[in-house]
Amino acid sequence: MPVHAVPLNDRDFNRVQRHAESVFVLGPNSVHGPDHWKRVGEAGLALCKETGADKTVVRLFAIHHDSCRLDDGADPLHGPRAADMLGEIAGELFILEPDRLALLEYAIRHHTGGRTSDDPTIGACWDADRLDLGRVGIVPHERFVSTESGHRRIQLIRAEHLSTRNHDHRHR
Ligand SMILES: [Fe+2]
Repeated sequence: MPVHAVPLNDRDFNRVQRHAESVFVLGPNSVHGPDHWKRVGEAGLALCKETGADKTVVRLFAIHHDSCRLDDGADPLHGPRAADMLGEIAGELFILEPDRLALLEYAIRHHTGGRTSDDPTIGACWDADRLDLGRVGIVPHERFVSTESGHRRIQLIRAEHLSTRNHDHRHR
């Protein structure tokens, strides 16, 4: 029987958010914690407008993708752990059609591998995450960016970093 999914509303997203916070062990001040999820969500929604990516999938990715981290280092298995956990929460906390759930699952499972994607939704998820590397002082490399919009944003971030650096040099 086909899954009948209704559009998710803010209550659904809040439920996923509460769940993510409840399993997240690194605390609210982690660089991979809720503040990061929020920024990924905002950047992701901006990318959706320009790329036609699936907003719901991107929002769910933003909230859930780093929730199973056990440390703030590489923790290479946190993507697969979070993807596996989707099996527990999908259908309980939210309902998504199988093809959209598969996109979300793929985006989460492989978001740490440094890959890019031609799929606009997976690309928007990964770009939104990487665009937030600025919080740890890293300008993401263009090689790791999937979408045209992501590329444009990287160039802006790079220009901003350069002008800040030049400004700091001049005022030393
Ligand atoms: Fe992330």
